[in-house]
Amino acid sequence: HHTQVGIIGAGPAGLLLAQLLHQQGIRSVVLENRPRERVESRQRAGLLEQNTVDRLRQAGATTRLDEQGLVHDGVILSYNGQRHRIDLAELTGGSRVTIYAQTEVVKDLIQLRLDMGEPILFEAEATSIDGLDTSTPMIQYVHNGETHTLACDFVAGCDGFHGISRKTIPESLTTVYDKIYPYCWLGILAKVPPSTHELIYAYHDRGFALHSMRSPEISRLYVQCDVTDTLEDWPDERIWAELQIRLGTAGWTLHEGPILEKTITPMRSFVSEPMQYGRLFLAGDSAHIVPPTGAKGLNMAVADTGQLFDALMAWYQNGSTAELADYTACCMRRVWRVQEFSNFMTELLHHDPDKSLFDAHLQASRFNQLITSPTASTVVAENYVGLAAKKAS
Ligand code: FAD
Ligand code: DHB
Repeated sequence: HHTQVGIIGAGPAGLLLAQLLHQQGIRSVVLENRPRERVESRQRAGLLEQNTVDRLRQAGATTRLDEQGLVHDGVILSYNGQRHRIDLAELTGGSRVTIYAQTEVVKDLIQLRLDMGEPILFEAEATSIDGLDTSTPMIQYVHNGETHTLACDFVAGCDGFHGISRKTIPESLTTVYDKIYPYCWLGILAKVPPSTHELIYAYHDRGFALHSMRSPEISRLYVQCDVTDTLEDWPDERIWAELQIRLGTAGWTLHEGPILEKTITPMRSFVSEPMQYGRLFLAGDSAHIVPPTGAKGLNMAVADTGQLFDALMAWYQNGSTAELADYTACCMRRVWRVQEFSNFMTELLHHDPDKSLFDAHLQASRFNQLITSPTASTVVAENYVGLAAKKAS
């Protein structure tokens, strides 16, 4: 069969693109290799920039987000127990961030797609993409044990880091930039009301910790662990004990509760360029990965998607190819800003045992500058809420 845009992957990027296109009368088919329940339950990001909320609003996907999202005006940094609040709204002229889990963003977008009766196939694995240098590229996919071909005008490669889209671009045309960090995050979901109203990012000599949340009843916390650690190394008591030490400060209590889920996430920075080849366009994790410390992975996937949607609409509405031709260049400016910020936050807040004493002093001094200089905190605040965020008055 034939569609206008063939979308590989039902993560935030693919689902949002499908919905934005649908609103403009452009047909698409979403192919997702996992079952729906799995896509809707994968615990990942939770912090949305204003830009991201605006795009979701444009897609008509904010009914539940407006009811349940937690809007934060500030964020707390902690250094060996000494806390400093960054007033995001004040430093950025009114920008804020919203806590609303990626699982919920994905559920809302899938429900919208199903309500519209638009095609989305789960357990449909794209296996190859051909004819990218023609006007009718073809996606081969396997669904219910049968191989099918989907012909389209364009292919959107929204299939995440392990997808096939990026690998379809000839290696000889591709440049990869990569960095792996010498630590991981152990993340937990706990059935306990958050012990803080705003997120706490903590540097501690024992390692990083982060207190986030999912709702007034559910906390989300992360603790730095070693790359060789497994979940067996981290019984619940050890997790809470480390969180107590690393997040602790005088006169404050971290409330503990049953741990509902534990996962270990490796930390890497990765960029693959270009983000397009013929009629294939990559968006989100298929093209780049950031370490999670700056909360940018999901936000950057949404930003790419918005850029791709705008470029596709320029083509469908005006026959203009300039925006599509510029897609990689436009994305790369944002990608590298976000890469630098995510790397900065990661190296600022983690304990790296292999760092020289000299570098450890630089790290401490950077932190000190951040909490003593309004100029330095403004730079962090601007990046954290998202650059070019619309400023509310
Ligand atoms: P994805 O959400 O990865 O979606 C890609 C989809 O494509 C998947 O559903 C996959 O099943 C599907 N797919 C893959 N191959 C095929 C194929 N061949 N055919 C069909 N479908 C295919 N970001 C943060 O900001 N904060 C965090 O705390 C955070 N934690 C994370 C924890 C983990 C374990 C991971 C993996 C990521 C985390 N991220 C975090 C990053 C954030 O979740 C991603 O940046 C975001 O999901 C990117 O969205 P996406 O749509 O580009 O890709
Ligand atoms: C969350 C994850 C992050 O990486 C971050 O920087 C802030 C919040 C979260 O999962 O809530």
